[in-house]
Amino acid sequence: MLRRLIAAALLATAFMQPAFAETVIKAGHGTTTGHPTHLALEHFAKLVSEKSNGDIKVEVYPDRQLGEEREMVEGLQFGSVDMAVVSTGPLLAFAPDLAVVDLPFLFKDSQHVYRVLDGDVGTELLKSFESRGIHGLAWWENGWRHLTAKKDISKPADLSGLKLRTMQNPVHMAAFEKLGASPIPMVWGEVFTSLGQGVIDAQENPITVIYVNSLWEVQSHLMLTGHVYGPHVALFSKMKWDSLTPEQQTIISEAAKESTGFQREKSAELEKEYLAKIKENGMTVVEVDTAPFRDALRDLAATQQNIKPEMLERINAAA
Ligand code: PAF
Repeated sequence: MLRRLIAAALLATAFMQPAFAETVIKAGHGTTTGHPTHLALEHFAKLVSEKSNGDIKVEVYPDRQLGEEREMVEGLQFGSVDMAVVSTGPLLAFAPDLAVVDLPFLFKDSQHVYRVLDGDVGTELLKSFESRGIHGLAWWENGWRHLTAKKDISKPADLSGLKLRTMQNPVHMAAFEKLGASPIPMVWGEVFTSLGQGVIDAQENPITVIYVNSLWEVQSHLMLTGHVYGPHVALFSKMKWDSLTPEQQTIISEAAKESTGFQREKSAELEKEYLAKIKENGMTVVEVDTAPFRDALRDLAATQQNIKPEMLERINAAA
């Protein structure tokens, strides 16, 4: 009788165990569900689930649900966020060598960007996060950044005294200061309201960000300056990474790399679609001759302490 009771109890416990141990990855980003990074994170989640036969589940949290970009990156260090895809805005505090990528007019075109970021320079920069408790996974794309304002800006003099929101990025701030603007570093969550209330006059971001945040409601002009390329860096918590098995790490690395092409294609496709919609919503789109802006910023690199001339030379050589 006792033996039968024990057997029944063992059988019941066996049925209570889940079929497999599920590893959950909480992945956050700072844009909305219409941004290519969100679509790529969903694609990445699908790939990870398929490759792990459902063992790893990626939960995607858009729109700063896990915090502003800097908070998400700090969360990676503390282990409260597993994965984050962020702009370089807050990243120089964690990986100072990234400063070189933030130089305006550095890259000739998107192919130049991809050659550099997918090559040795990009790999070295991703590795430089490791000592800060962050594992660098891949270079995704936020996009070429353009100016928006309540007026036309066709030459550097038009920026004079303009309260321009920049990311909390020292290279971007130095660039706009040199151009004559008054850069105001601000977290993204405060930008729309601050533009509406006149706390700031202007901002700069890629077309996808401008569209998904309806910036035409608070800005009348979009200037196609493409003054700097904005990566979206896919980062992982080292604490979480070290808790995964080597097989799980391979699955995540492969899925992140496989999602890179998808993300960049979506970015290019949506950029065209969203530019047309921005015009439909009444924003004046200005083609800008960037030559005077380039001239004014020619010697910026030499004034920035975290830019390694050797790395800059390698980037220029890949043009
Ligand atoms: O401007 C920024 O802060 C970033 O481009 C944003 C909008 C958070 C997307 O990464």
